[in-house]
Amino acid sequence: MLVNAKEMLNLALENNYAIPQFNINNLEWAKNILEACNEQKSPVILGVSEGAAKYMGGYKTVYNMVMGLISDLNITIPVALHLDHGQSIESCKKAIDNGFTSVMIDASSYSLDKNIEITKDVVTYAHHRNVTVEAEVGHIGGTEDEITSDIAYANKEDCIKLVNETGVDFLAPALGSVHGLYKGEPKIDIKRMKEIKEALGIPLVLHGGTGINDEIIINSIDSGICKININTELQVAWANNVRRFLKDNSDVYDPRKIINSGKDAIKETVITKTNLFRSNNKA
Ligand code: 13P
Repeated sequence: MLVNAKEMLNLALENNYAIPQFNINNLEWAKNILEACNEQKSPVILGVSEGAAKYMGGYKTVYNMVMGLISDLNITIPVALHLDHGQSIESCKKAIDNGFTSVMIDASSYSLDKNIEITKDVVTYAHHRNVTVEAEVGHIGGTEDEITSDIAYANKEDCIKLVNETGVDFLAPALGSVHGLYKGEPKIDIKRMKEIKEALGIPLVLHGGTGINDEIIINSIDSGICKININTELQVAWANNVRRFLKDNSDVYDPRKIINSGKDAIKETVITKTNLFRSNNKA
């Protein structure tokens, strides 16, 4: 069932667990994630970056593909289809118009006032259509394609101002995590996370979930994180298995066999993360 992310994240906040956002890259990714989460009876957020949407053909193709899979595979868990790091108001509106149930507007490269202005515009459009909105304050390091450490930690007052003035449903404050593989140890500011959680009372989002150890993940969930984004970890697990398969089976050319040789790695990673994220569930 395709839903927005409000109820699943508010339940997670109430009961001290986190909903996984797994980013999808293609049909197989979406299928494997949906199957694994359905088996685990875990709600899931399917994250789609602008680049991934373009790669798959566009927002409509992604929406139709996910809807088709939910129907054909008899997926009964709540699923949110979420635009990850929407870079413009237009991009968010386009995703919404094509059936996405949740969007992130990432105006974190602008001044706080400009970030608020852009985010507010997206929230107005989205909420009229029952779509949830995530925003970013500070700057999370790295991008989908580039590993950098250009982190700007979020300031609590800025978070309060943005949430009060825009009415976003959940917030990604930059707290030291980066996208992609970490160079060295991640320095996640748990104390600041707790303070922001207490000041806001809405679900918080942790980007860059790849490479953060289990203890920090659990501490983050205890400190208000209700949505954890994972992308690279699934890619690495899949690629390692496919590489091994091709090495051992150099005569195979059927794309279904090649692509599917990474299926178990995706599913195992999804199951491990899902169980970790709900291990302290109070419900
Ligand atoms: P990773 O690729 O580091 O897991 O980050 C994913 C993410 O935060 C998507 O927004």
